[in-house]
Amino acid sequence: MKRVYIETYGCQMNVADTEIMLSVLQREGFVPTETPDGAELLLVNTCAVRDNAEQRVIGRLGELQRCKPAGGVLGVVGCMAQRLGPILLERVPRVDIVAGPDAYRNLPALVAAASAGQRTSDTQFRTWEHYEDVPPVRETAASAFVTVQRGCDYKCTFCIVPYTRGPERSRKLEDVVREVAGLVEQGTSEVTLLGQTVNSYSDGEHDFADLLRAVGAVDGIRRLRFTSPYPTDFTGRVIEAMATVPAVCEHVHLPVQSGSNAVLRRMLRRYTREQYLEVVTQLRSTIPGITFSTDIIVGFPGETEEQFEETLSLVAQADFDDAYTFKYSVREGTPAVRIPNHIADEVAGDRLERLIAAVRNQARRKNMGRVGTIHEVLVERPARRGGLLLGRTRTNLLALVDLPPEAIGEYHQVQLTGTTGSTFTGTVTRPSLAVL
Ligand code: 5AD
Repeated sequence: MKRVYIETYGCQMNVADTEIMLSVLQREGFVPTETPDGAELLLVNTCAVRDNAEQRVIGRLGELQRCKPAGGVLGVVGCMAQRLGPILLERVPRVDIVAGPDAYRNLPALVAAASAGQRTSDTQFRTWEHYEDVPPVRETAASAFVTVQRGCDYKCTFCIVPYTRGPERSRKLEDVVREVAGLVEQGTSEVTLLGQTVNSYSDGEHDFADLLRAVGAVDGIRRLRFTSPYPTDFTGRVIEAMATVPAVCEHVHLPVQSGSNAVLRRMLRRYTREQYLEVVTQLRSTIPGITFSTDIIVGFPGETEEQFEETLSLVAQADFDDAYTFKYSVREGTPAVRIPNHIADEVAGDRLERLIAAVRNQARRKNMGRVGTIHEVLVERPARRGGLLLGRTRTNLLALVDLPPEAIGEYHQVQLTGTTGSTFTGTVTRPSLAVL
């Protein structure tokens, strides 16, 4: 028996890619294991989106090198592998394999070469690659990620992803629907469709609106989510589909990146602050109760104090429920490297702190106002504390509930009883018996 250990960093698509790698390797007789100790094959699935993500991996590789048994194989896969390619083999002496996101089908050959003492990298883009015949190996769960689009064509000036994941391509709608139907048979009732700009999905025949309708019509799919959409790809058709397909959840993660038009232009984002807010307004008016989260970068080259303050005011105006906030990180090979006036680290750090405080205060205020309300919660997993379980509302609020472990995967009506400011405690409300 050969054991494979995969450690996954970064985005949800990496989680989905790990499931594909497990499938490729299982065919070769590998069995997944939860710990690196004793595994013959160790893989680290990496992120390249910011320098700190890469530094963490470099540190971890140092540790994993020491776990590697004699004759074992250590591989770096994913976006950092694609970005650095053979350089990784030079920099980390005990790494045997480097494979980018389009090279996972080739993993068995790379492992065989490594076992024969050859250190190799495969960073070729294969723009046809969808791993269509490679069914992801997933843990049975109520919720699953389904990749519908790989790569990215948007070329935002700060972003490394177009260079690590290659050009945009969409899976055939029928293939996605078949996979979702298969998931339902395994007990899954919630799916999250994944793509870098997921609502620009197009398989040549069908757009994202068609996809939402088709997946939402799969019998047994109770919740449908997607991430991450691009603001200008919310066509009337897509919004209409979201409003009419009952499974589509009332939450959108909609990266804005900045509240300043000048910064948005330098980032090559394809919208203005006003257009972004218009999309939010339109979604709010069509989908009652919808919540929004976003991604924001501070300290982008040339960002002035006034431009940063426009981001602060956008947070208030868009009335975000949550935001993931980042300090701009220089990515070699991206156009933003050449934009003048890079921002000093202390200035960017100070802006990040102010932004985090603004986001936190706003979230706390909004969440306090939600205490007492009743929501349908899908129970996901044990919480870290107190034997409680963690559940999620359709609007993406997290609630700790006191239920037995068997409740994982079930839907319950939960009244929110308190909040830390970001997460909630809740109690299951017994539906009152209907008087006949
Ligand atoms: N520096 C900082 N943050 C970045 N992101 C992408 N590239 C960079 C970068 N160079 C952020 C964006 C994106 C999220 C996934 O990561 O906000 O939406």
